[in-house]
Amino acid sequence: MSPADPDALAGSQLIAATLDRWTEFQAMGREMQAAGETGYEGWFGYLGVRYGDWRALLGALLAMAQPTRADLVPSSVYWLVDAGGELLGEAHIRWRLNATLLHHGGHIGYMLRPSARGRGYGHRILALTLQAAAAGGLRRVLVTCDRANLASAAVIRGAGGQLEDEPRSRLSGQIISRYWINLGAGEEAGGAGRIEPHEGAFDHAQG
Ligand SMILES: CC(C)(COP(=O)(O)OP(=O)(O)OC[C@H]1O[C@@H](n2cnc3c(N)ncnc32)[C@H](O)[C@@H]1OP(=O)(O)O)[C@@H](O)C(=O)NCCC(=O)NCCS
Repeated sequence: MSPADPDALAGSQLIAATLDRWTEFQAMGREMQAAGETGYEGWFGYLGVRYGDWRALLGALLAMAQPTRADLVPSSVYWLVDAGGELLGEAHIRWRLNATLLHHGGHIGYMLRPSARGRGYGHRILALTLQAAAAGGLRRVLVTCDRANLASAAVIRGAGGQLEDEPRSRLSGQIISRYWINLGAGEEAGGAGRIEPHEGAFDHAQG
């Protein structure tokens, strides 16, 4: 696939996810499923949503802004859209870490629908999500990916990710790469200082 032209990339933007666009969310999710990807599969079970009910799944994801479960931290859902408003991908910001997220998952997860990949939007969605994280007050974020996920690693390194370590995930059993990205010039706030004391069971495929 050829790179998107610079105007198309620059015209894409990050918007807050909204329930009224659930059919587009469903189409994006089904496109991932058709490509054999399990990014959303775990969410249905983990959030207790009837499998295949995409409207309810989106509602449950949006409700994580103010979670009532001890194993969930407050998090926000965003979509990357092109200049015409079509959904290209999704990003999550977890506004603080618990012990599980500190190990695997981090502050930020992102994915592109398969038809949007390989055109530079990976760099774009992470860059815009980091801007949103900074605007929301985070100063240093943890981003993790499977070590074998070369595209994601390239995106994280391109955003200034500094490799912390590469342990075997206690959640997936895979070797993962844990990167920190500073969002404020020279600032060290955030990160470990924001860890929740409880051990959550948060586990999903978006990193
Ligand atoms: C990770 C993801 C967002 C990257 O999207 P993308 O469209 O490939 O991103 P880009 O086109 O911006 O390319 C990013 C870089 O990865 C490289 N890349 C892409 N696919 C690659 C592959 N299979 N092997 C090696 N490098 C690859 C590109 O060449 C590019 O390199 P550059 O830094 O030199 O420019 C996308 O692959 C995805 O949604 N994957 C599934 C979900 C996921 O893994 N999310 C991240 C979890 S941590």
